[in-house]
Amino acid sequence: MIIGVLNQKGGAGKTTLSLNLAAYFASNNLRTLLVDADPQASALMWSSAREAEPLFPVIGMAKPTLHKDLPSVAGDYNITIIDGAPRVNELGRAAILASDLVLIPVQPSPLDVWASDETVQLIREAQQFREGIQGAFVINRKISNTVIGRDVVDAFKEAPFPVLPTIISQRVVFAESAAYGLSALEAEPHGEAAREIAALGRAILEREERQAA
Ligand SMILES: Nc1ncnc2c1ncn2[C@@H]1O[C@H](COP(=O)(O)OP(=O)(O)OP(=O)(O)O)[C@@H](O)[C@H]1O
Ligand SMILES: [Mg+2]
Repeated sequence: MIIGVLNQKGGAGKTTLSLNLAAYFASNNLRTLLVDADPQASALMWSSAREAEPLFPVIGMAKPTLHKDLPSVAGDYNITIIDGAPRVNELGRAAILASDLVLIPVQPSPLDVWASDETVQLIREAQQFREGIQGAFVINRKISNTVIGRDVVDAFKEAPFPVLPTIISQRVVFAESAAYGLSALEAEPHGEAAREIAALGRAILEREERQAA
């Protein structure tokens, strides 16, 4: 399965979710590849900051031909995650075209749902070429111990793609662990961030199984 993580809005959590999900899948014995499709190369820098043994390879492929080049490489892995660039251009198009599932990280606010519209449109365009491409929102940076307000829930109800049921909270460990090229799962294996990422990873795998059935 190839999972793209895209949102043209900068700082939505694409890289954070990409590398933490990759760490979750890899530590569950799935052969995992992380593709950095962003010219900013944040995922590549994360992997060079790492002193620990790599859990999974990270390769740079910020190319408009990504959808053509990736399948032969991704064939060797159970899961490939593409960390997308905050752009609406041929790089974003290629990353979406290469994906089976596109995750769109958004903060729990209607403003973020609306702001992701260009990415939603790109996914819709790609679906004209390949019907099987799916889109799903992932709520990221929820302030922990708060309840998501009614108006926010309503905004997500009207969202153009489903919203995954697992929510990732705002937690310092995501930023701190990244500084050392680690995932939250490694920095705090029994912490809440690791628990939430595991729940998100499981939700993605279960969704895939349901659809294959
Ligand atoms: N759940 C979270 N809790 C705490 N900090 C977070 C969380 N998600 C993201 N961040 C922080 O927010 C900032 C932006 O996140 P990230 O780099 O993952 O976003 P991005 O969408 O990849 O950005 P860009 O568009 O620049 O590629 C980073 O400093 C990151 O550590
Ligand atoms: Mg990024």
